[in-house]
Amino acid sequence: MVEFAFDIKHLFPQPIIRVQAHCLCPKVEARPRPHPFNLAHHRGPSEPASCKLSQILDSMGQLSAVAQGLRHPVTTAEKLVATEQVVYLMADNEAGRWAVTALLKVGTKDLFLFDKQGSCRRADQTPAILDFYVHESRQRRGLGKQIFQRMLDEQGWAARKCSVDRPSEKLLAFLGKHYGLVRPIPQGNNFVLYEDFFEDAHAQA
Ligand code: ACO
Repeated sequence: MVEFAFDIKHLFPQPIIRVQAHCLCPKVEARPRPHPFNLAHHRGPSEPASCKLSQILDSMGQLSAVAQGLRHPVTTAEKLVATEQVVYLMADNEAGRWAVTALLKVGTKDLFLFDKQGSCRRADQTPAILDFYVHESRQRRGLGKQIFQRMLDEQGWAARKCSVDRPSEKLLAFLGKHYGLVRPIPQGNNFVLYEDFFEDAHAQA
């Protein structure tokens, strides 16, 4: 779990919150760079909520990158600016201390995709899973399913209609277990999608 020097309780009126660019600190360049294992740089309680959310995003994005072996985080507050992407964050106070436990970033992409027959189709505004991370201390306890399902409900998406950007083995197993997604259609890009993606889709041949 990820604790911060400031109180996060008021940022989480519910266990899962939805964050978009307009919720974040406008002065991105003024913030300290995150370090995944040292959160001592975080400033005090007087900081605006938007800046606290930005720091949470940066730290969780950094941890996600480490967990996935990526050199650069997929999620930072700066990268969210000027996008329509949405980040879901989860927190709890399990041990009597509030901590952030999960991050899920989604958006839409205009993609050229191969269907089951190998024909290339253009699919605009494809729901895309971009970054997903549950803290190591909380994995395999159902939190991933909770935040993912909340995202699907809020976005109005079905799991089988989502493309997934470079899924890890853990995420492939997760999608198979919870959503029965086991037959991926090979793509020429980094995205993975599953059979049924093109059923009733507004995809153009
Ligand atoms: N090995 C294999 N499968 C795993 C593992 C693991 N270490 N951890 C979770 N899973 C899969 C399994 O199907 C597992 O079911 P099982 O325990 O019965 O085998 C299921 O996920 C558990 O479901 P939840 O508890 O709801 O999921 P969790 O809270 O563990 O979150 C997540 C899943 C987000 C993939 C988490 O494991 C994680 O953060 N992994 C590290 C980062 C990562 O790989 N993120 C995805 C990168 S790709 C992308 O973001 C587009």
